[in-house]
Amino acid sequence: MAEQLGAAVIGLGMMGERHAAIWRELPTTRLVSVYDIVPERTQAVAEACGCEAAGSLEAALDRPDVDLVSVCTDDGRHVEPCLAAAAAGKHILLEKPLATSLQDCDAIIAACASAGVKLMVGHVVRFDPRYAVAQQAIAEGAVGEVIQVYGRRNNILDSGRRIAPRTSVAFFLGVHDLDLMRWFVGAEAVKVHAEAASKVLVDVAAEDSIMALLKYENGAVGCLETCWAMPKGIPCTLDARLEVIGSEGMVRVTVGDEGCTVISPDRASRPDILYGPHLRGEQHGALRAQLEHFADCVRLDREPLISPRDARAAVELAVAIHESLRTGAPVYL
Ligand SMILES: NC(=O)c1ccc[n+]([C@@H]2O[C@H](COP(=O)([O-])OP(=O)(O)OC[C@H]3O[C@@H](n4cnc5c(N)ncnc54)[C@H](O)[C@@H]3O)[C@@H](O)[C@H]2O)c1
Repeated sequence: MAEQLGAAVIGLGMMGERHAAIWRELPTTRLVSVYDIVPERTQAVAEACGCEAAGSLEAALDRPDVDLVSVCTDDGRHVEPCLAAAAAGKHILLEKPLATSLQDCDAIIAACASAGVKLMVGHVVRFDPRYAVAQQAIAEGAVGEVIQVYGRRNNILDSGRRIAPRTSVAFFLGVHDLDLMRWFVGAEAVKVHAEAASKVLVDVAAEDSIMALLKYENGAVGCLETCWAMPKGIPCTLDARLEVIGSEGMVRVTVGDEGCTVISPDRASRPDILYGPHLRGEQHGALRAQLEHFADCVRLDREPLISPRDARAAVELAVAIHESLRTGAPVYL
């Protein structure tokens, strides 16, 4: 293997563009090729990053100097690029969620296992130090037996308008906390019951808000709140919490005021500090840490922090939430 790993990126929207920039900037990797089904996107990102603008998925992957691939296509379009990357023998960093059905999850996991390539799903919040330190405290016994867990992830309506026609708030936002809550509780959920409201995104037949109650196999209860209908006047576009109460203590993570507010004559805003701030011409924060971690796992043959089983479990819960919304009844897992 070369000193620097070669990377390709498939799907060059908001996330793919960031992955491409980070693979170009990391000292352990270099960006080799990019591909989007929209040729102008491919061309624009390739020019900005100085790499090959591939004319097809196969052309992006079929290069011996590509070791790993970021798949950053829409939630419901992860399968085709992942199966192609696995068949080409490339390690895969896939944007969350793993897929939007369990059949698709299993197809991706099986393809990677039989090709012998690493698969990590980018549950980037695990690389946010606030959540990572909180989880470590729980794992070290700080809260004792977990009694309850509460996860919130609310975003502005612009995000709902951009994404809702192609996925759901449970798959796009909720899946982060379904993963984190399971990580924090350290047990599988056995029962899920969900309710939803649809008032502003009703024109695209999408839920604005989903709330779900979960029961875990260790007896803990959980509550998920996820919404993408907050007004864009809110200073921070992401409002997230994670709180665990246990027999010996509690842990709380609060996202929304990272200690930097930019104030203009008519508006105050809180810029992203932790996930992907662009500073001194480079990407920083949790997303960069996630990509660096995956490259290290490939270089040093280590197990990634997020296993395919973890990523599948989060999707299983999102699928159960939608099943509960459809039937109005709890889903037993
Ligand atoms: N980790 C995070 O915090 C985070 C944040 C936002 C989005 N995401 C995830 O990243 C993924 C992409 O989201 P986004 O916001 O960048 O979406 P986006 O709509 O901005 O970009 C998706 C891109 O994929 C391209 N595409 C679709 N199908 C393709 C295919 N078969 N081959 C090649 N290109 C294809 C589209 O043309 C588009 O340019 C989603 O799975 C989403 O859930 C993760």
